Amino acid sequence: MPRMPRRRRGALALALPLFLLLGACASDAPQDTLDPKGPIARQIDDLVNPVFLVAAVVFVIVEFGTLAMVLKFRKRRGEDDDDLPAQTHGNTKLEIGWTVLPAAILAVVAVGTIGTLININSRDDAAMTVRVEGQQWWWRYSYDVDGDGRFEDEEPSTGTDLVIPAGVDVELEIHSNDVIHSFWIPSLNGKKDAVPGRTHTLTLNADEPGTYVGQCTEFCGLSHAYMRQRAVALPQDEFDDWLANQATEAEEPEEGTEAALGAELFTTQCSRCHVARGINDEEWADEGDKTLVAGEAPELTHFATRGAFAGGTYNLWEDLDGDDIVEYDEIGGELNRIDLEAWLRNPPGQKPMAPEARGMPNLQLQEEQIDQLVAFLQTLD
Ligand code: CUA
Repeated sequence: MPRMPRRRRGALALALPLFLLLGACASDAPQDTLDPKGPIARQIDDLVNPVFLVAAVVFVIVEFGTLAMVLKFRKRRGEDDDDLPAQTHGNTKLEIGWTVLPAAILAVVAVGTIGTLININSRDDAAMTVRVEGQQWWWRYSYDVDGDGRFEDEEPSTGTDLVIPAGVDVELEIHSNDVIHSFWIPSLNGKKDAVPGRTHTLTLNADEPGTYVGQCTEFCGLSHAYMRQRAVALPQDEFDDWLANQATEAEEPEEGTEAALGAELFTTQCSRCHVARGINDEEWADEGDKTLVAGEAPELTHFATRGAFAGGTYNLWEDLDGDDIVEYDEIGGELNRIDLEAWLRNPPGQKPMAPEARGMPNLQLQEEQIDQLVAFLQTLD
């Protein structure tokens, strides 16, 4: 192979870091870890920034020092190969210096790190607790409406959308129903693994109402990349209304309508995995066919109050302001009918769900049935 000309090699060597640098400059990056939107994430940020600064200064000194030495003591033209530079051995002052200084720097960093860890992990005045379950490939959030400390079947749960009140600590009790997943909303806190058989806690706190996105950060199988999260923070009164609504049963659609046909179809075709309280909970109770590895599918009682479906793979409503995130005020606006219909037509074709018996199967629905189901799903608000 001919060698690349020197100049081109130089250009390539410069281009690679430049591309990496440019990659870090995206402005519309909602999963930016360096853009905290709550007090807990801010504490982490307040630790990361000075540590990064110290590390950067050390990096520059060491790298430029090394380069300077190499240049200064390089072999010069006319010097004999056998000419050795003056040999020295040992410099007590220098050696003590470069042992003590890094130790001191690390000690300072350790104090800050441990202090931050203790602070963000000992927040025991949480306003509420939500149970989080990761499974292939979506997140379930269960709410303890009656406040008895238990998450019962009759109490509501959502998929993908974690709705919380803004400005207060919300404690998450994180579980997994199958393999290891990892929960992470970068703008609200660090990440926490969801491990089968264990309960991990994590606290979220959002300064302002808004929608904060994240995604599973532990490789958990084929559709790991389609296991997304949305934390929807609402003002306390709106959150109370939201929770009160979630606790209600779904209303049966008016007889003779397309939605009523959809409800019937839902009861016969979807009850194996999905429940909509008030519609098919009788069929569902105790009859759940446990062929799904991780248990049943998302509860759909108030499906239409969510911003996304299929583990956050698709927006359920149109993103009207074009910022790629469906905010709370866009929910209930314009239905993303195309993706919803495509999903019902062939779910495994939309989101890889192998090996078999994970996720939603293709039910071979007719177009007419898909229309009926969509009409029914829209009534679940
Ligand atoms: Cu769940 Cu990756």
